[in-house]
Amino acid sequence: MRLFFALGLDEKTNQAAREQLVRYHHHLCGEGRAVPDQNLHLTLAFLGEVPDTKLPALQAAASNLALPAFSLTTSAVEVWEQPKIACVTFNQPPPVLFDLAHHLQTLPVWHAKADSHAFTPHITLRRGVKHQQALHLPPLPTQTFACQRFGLYASPSSASDESIPRDNEGRALYQCLHQFSLC
Ligand code: 2AM
Repeated sequence: MRLFFALGLDEKTNQAAREQLVRYHHHLCGEGRAVPDQNLHLTLAFLGEVPDTKLPALQAAASNLALPAFSLTTSAVEVWEQPKIACVTFNQPPPVLFDLAHHLQTLPVWHAKADSHAFTPHITLRRGVKHQQALHLPPLPTQTFACQRFGLYASPSSASDESIPRDNEGRALYQCLHQFSLC
């Protein structure tokens, strides 16, 4: 299974902020492919292909992290030429977010895939965006998300896998395998 830890930003208290983000997402148009609404998330650690046998130890290790809940306020939408995405960034993300990502990237049971870039919190809205000018980017309304939990998610290793859940446009959806509470 291809796994990653992420903030789903789907706590009940985030309902209004998430709906506003989804509305904004629907207004973006131009180059690239929109991420399905249900897949909007903030990646904390991308683990890559992980054998099923590692799952229990992985869940136990993540459950043992005792880090406090925090909030995140959106800043802007940016186009990053590498890896060709349009994404939401955050205004002064708190140090605890970086601690959480670091712990999840270096769990003794499974280290995250090495990334050449420092962890930069973002929510990907569109993929395959090569040119900022090719996208109509309205200003992003400021939204604050309460981050009270994070999740372990599976993403399909093969796009043609028939068993994976899909949205009504046939796009593959991530599956949340387990949720973990922040303190
Ligand atoms: P993203 O957070 O920039 O969108 C599931 O595939 C998630 O893991 C995606 O959200 C994606 O990036 C992130 N991801 C995929 N492949 C990755 C890789 N090789 N290194 C780091 N993150 C990756």
